[in-house]
Amino acid sequence: GAPHDLAGRTVVISAGGTREAIDPVRFIGNRSSGLQGYALARTAAARGAEVVLVAANVALPDPAGAKVVRVESALELREAVLAASASADVVVMAAAVADFRPADPRGSKIKKTSGEPDPIDLVKNPDILAELGERRRDGVPYPRVIVGFAAETDDVLANGQAKLERKGCDLLVVNQVGGGLAFGTPDNAATVLVAGGQPVEVPRGPKDDVADAVWDQVAARLS
Ligand code: C5P
Repeated sequence: GAPHDLAGRTVVISAGGTREAIDPVRFIGNRSSGLQGYALARTAAARGAEVVLVAANVALPDPAGAKVVRVESALELREAVLAASASADVVVMAAAVADFRPADPRGSKIKKTSGEPDPIDLVKNPDILAELGERRRDGVPYPRVIVGFAAETDDVLANGQAKLERKGCDLLVVNQVGGGLAFGTPDNAATVLVAGGQPVEVPRGPKDDVADAVWDQVAARLS
């Protein structure tokens, strides 16, 4: 069975992909399935953790042993993650959060007109991961361990290391994108970058393997 090395720990995991409303029926979204986040939730619960799973638009059954909070947009995800992280040991931002949202979502459905369509103005969403890192730099002790995800295609180590430092996280899981991996697939391959430590390679395999490699590093930092 799984080691019980997360017993008594509270972990918050975001999963899935946000949807940013254009009007009541349309949104800007992404292809995140939530599979990696759900694997993190399942494996953390198996290792004894109390799990809060903030799920953005995920079409998967609730994992056993997790408290699931459903959200849609980046702003809702931010509220839910910040509320839950106030007393959490660990936050893992596995969700694909939209970088931008429509500045002025319409209250009623945009009509098809004969002329050119109106452009959709975008504004920046807050970077939740960076915000957690900043708060901790300002002296907030929680969450004790902050984990980010990144999909990088080239210069994986250099770009990942820079992102780890920029966002102030302790671990950054860099997914290898392409070759039938990452979005919507059961398998993943990743490098876990560790602040002040050596990177850990996780060879291609089930998303539970990446999740367990993350929890190994988290457990080491908590003890
Ligand atoms: O900068 P980039 O989007 O590649 O960083 C990805 C990481 O940052 C993921 O962990 C993601 O959940 C998080 N993120 C966030 N808020 C955003 C954008 C990304 O927390 N607005």
